Amino acid sequence: MSSYEAAFRVWRGDVGGGGLEDFKVEVNDGEVVLDIIHRLQATQTPDLAVRWNCKAGKCGSCSAEVNGRPRLMCMTRMSVFTRDEVITVTPLRAFPVVRDLVTDVGFNYRKAREVPAFVPPAGVGPGEYRMMQEDVDRSQEFRKCIECFLCQDTCHVVRDHEDNKAAFAGPRFLMRVAELDMHPLDAASEEGLDRKRTAQDEHGLGYCNITKCCTEVCPEGIHITDNALIPLKERAADRKYDPVVWLGNKIRRRGGS
Ligand code: SF4
Ligand code: SF4
Ligand code: FES
Repeated sequence: MSSYEAAFRVWRGDVGGGGLEDFKVEVNDGEVVLDIIHRLQATQTPDLAVRWNCKAGKCGSCSAEVNGRPRLMCMTRMSVFTRDEVITVTPLRAFPVVRDLVTDVGFNYRKAREVPAFVPPAGVGPGEYRMMQEDVDRSQEFRKCIECFLCQDTCHVVRDHEDNKAAFAGPRFLMRVAELDMHPLDAASEEGLDRKRTAQDEHGLGYCNITKCCTEVCPEGIHITDNALIPLKERAADRKYDPVVWLGNKIRRRGGS
């Protein structure tokens, strides 16, 4: 087994401010960035705050930025860096820092609550649901999400624009709206809920300009842009230009005036 000393630059501080601190830390074969952060805690900075749980890429807790790229620290092998590289670890930039590498990701939970749940179809009991395999596959891809919020962190709509947060759900939750809107058994429209309209008017679908940065950082390899955001945009546009919807809106507007 070979080992070497890596140069780490870690952000330390809290809501009042902070900065980068330099450390030399031992690295052994096969280790990941989270191992090195743990060694740093064990040997030099016992009060370094870091959030983690599974160390297996499944809980979504250890999200941070490594050399400026949003990553899961437990899934980032040290072997992807050269031995003489300085490795900078900073908290997720889009969310308020709590302390050191821990951020307050409450924004995401608030956005999750704004998406109305699946509406079960009337007259079909649990166990009686039947779906085409392609519909099952689509939902299953979206449900691989581990809620690490790396996509939310990287999306430029909120990353540098705090003001946009109120009006934009972010890729993870627009994907949830897309999943429900394309779900063949979702009966939201029978309850008067138009998910395409809410995607535009309440979840900020129009802010997304399909740059695919969210897809690039997703550790689950979900095709967020191609399979969720673009289809949702197409469906919302179809709704807008559907002559029946157009006529319905016109009649409703006249009725209301
Ligand atoms: S594709 Fe849309 S949601 Fe994804 S990062 Fe780009 S603007 Fe954000
Ligand atoms: S869609 Fe991917 S990047 Fe976004 S929260 Fe889920 S797992 Fe993380
Ligand atoms: S510790 Fe669970 S995803 Fe990294």
